[in-house]
Amino acid sequence: MSIKVSVVGASGYVGGEILRILAQHPHAEIVSLTSRQYAGEYVHKAHPNMKGIISARFTGDDPVKASANADVVFLALPHKASVKVVPKLIETGIRIIDMSADFRLKTPESYVRWYGYEHPNPELLEKFVYGLPELHREELKGAKYVSAPGCMASASIIGLAPLVKKYTPSSPIIVDAKIGSSGAGGKPSPSTHFSERYGVIRPYKPTGHRHTAEIEQELRFVSGKNIGVAMSAHAVNQVRGILTTSHFITDTGTKLPDVWKAYRDFYPSEPFVRFMMDKTGIYRFPDPKVVIGSNFADIGFDIDPYINRVVVLTAIDNLLKGAAGSAVQSMNLMFGFNEREGLNMAALHPV
Ligand SMILES: NC(=O)c1ccc[n+]([C@@H]2O[C@H](COP(=O)([O-])OP(=O)(O)OC[C@H]3O[C@@H](n4cnc5c(N)ncnc54)[C@H](OP(=O)(O)O)[C@@H]3O)[C@@H](O)[C@H]2O)c1
Repeated sequence: MSIKVSVVGASGYVGGEILRILAQHPHAEIVSLTSRQYAGEYVHKAHPNMKGIISARFTGDDPVKASANADVVFLALPHKASVKVVPKLIETGIRIIDMSADFRLKTPESYVRWYGYEHPNPELLEKFVYGLPELHREELKGAKYVSAPGCMASASIIGLAPLVKKYTPSSPIIVDAKIGSSGAGGKPSPSTHFSERYGVIRPYKPTGHRHTAEIEQELRFVSGKNIGVAMSAHAVNQVRGILTTSHFITDTGTKLPDVWKAYRDFYPSEPFVRFMMDKTGIYRFPDPKVVIGSNFADIGFDIDPYINRVVVLTAIDNLLKGAAGSAVQSMNLMFGFNEREGLNMAALHPV
């Protein structure tokens, strides 16, 4: 069986990665790809890496017209742009995978608090499954509407879920996130201008990052408890990659074998979760450098007995496991394909 796929916002960084994955997916045929800026141009004008792989041109069609012959549409649009087209697409009966934050949170109040706007379609929020297969595999099977997680949220949640399932932290979990420049998308801005962005370790959101809302929502889903999260985000001198370092403090302390068991029990056979814990060598803990271009999430941890702290490290490629990779993994589950289809690529090394 093969499905027809439409990609809206296909000229962006996430759209480009969706195209790259789908181009070698055995059961997906890209039937339309849209861009306003590149309408009529070949795909390689926006994504030079795709020259010789995809020979199609972008169209400037509106999302409903572009998706008329498709089974599923990926919306790789900015926040507040998706929400304008989703109700119209729902009327057509098509399945939707939205990459923006517009349908990630379950309550309209969360949008007021974290995004500063009244959600125009609060009745649709419950219809969307949060597209993290590691947590929502069963709901994703056969789902009609999926909201892909935020990139730093993905790394944080994948790393912390096993711990909150087994232990209760005695204080809010501190998440320190570092992200490369592609996390800001392809549209230039003063802060992404090369002269300003190159070489930085820039704490751009020490408090109040929006992904905190998703992380708390999903840790509540796993643990059944309200667990506070305090997140600080830094822009670092990479194009791709995220490293989250999370500090999880308990009253009673933890033992390394018990923490290992928590992780093994939670992730007995996840196709894209790897444990990176080695006593020797260079890559003893997760490092974004060894996941770039792949859909893997690498997890590692260590215990600091002096303050009963577990330090959890997670590395992902923000455009893959943090966006297009998880989204295609969700698509595979929606349509009953093998979860790994299209996603078996190893990371580049060296990169
Ligand atoms: N970058 C990441 O690491 C990452 C990770 C997870 C999730 N996301 C989310 O994924 C979405 C896409 O991110 P991105 O990084 O790919 O951004 P991007 O590079 O800026 O691409 C956005 C795309 O949307 C189109 N677009 C922009 N404004 C639009 C509008 N008002 N109506 C219709 N089309 C519009 C743009 O193309 P044209 O202007 O040519 O139409 C472009 O193709 C965002 O919601 C983002 O938050 C990004």
